[in-house]
Amino acid sequence: MGKTVICPGSFDPVTYGHIDIITRAANMFDRVIVGVFVNMDKKPNFDIEERIGFLRRTVGHLPNVEIVGFDGLLANCAKECGASAVVRGLRAVSDFEYEFQMALTNKKLNPDLETVFLASDAQYTYLSSSIVKNVASFGGDITNFVPECIHDEIFERLNRKGKN
Ligand code: PNS
Repeated sequence: MGKTVICPGSFDPVTYGHIDIITRAANMFDRVIVGVFVNMDKKPNFDIEERIGFLRRTVGHLPNVEIVGFDGLLANCAKECGASAVVRGLRAVSDFEYEFQMALTNKKLNPDLETVFLASDAQYTYLSSSIVKNVASFGGDITNFVPECIHDEIFERLNRKGKN
């Protein structure tokens, strides 16, 4: 039986950094479930259908990648999907504390669930969905942050310059 892993996140919106991690996971494992967290504490800028749509357009061509929305605990979603590991990207030491806490919590909730960290590609260590939102909200250039096929939709939604 092949190895299934889950790449979870808010993906609000997906960035080149996420795409890099998902693509590398797809090269390492047999099946990759991209789990898009529905019920974020903070109201997302893009609703669940939009976030899933951006992922479909950017990683949907990878044959062993599936994109699903999930609500509730990641540990339960992983079990339901048959995933034996969570894959997360680590950008900097500042990511570590939160990621370590999450990995240990998930292991406690589902002892069969491992967490695998992939070192972020050096060119994306600064990049996050928050950076995309912040730069775009001031009308800044986000072409280096998100692929062309989703760029305009993201930029037009977030750019506050010129509105009102
Ligand atoms: O992209 P993000 O926002 O860093 O992703 C965080 C996410 C969605 C992976 C994390 O918040 C999560 O798994 N939430 C589901 C709720 C859960 O399982 N909580 C317990 C572990 S912290």
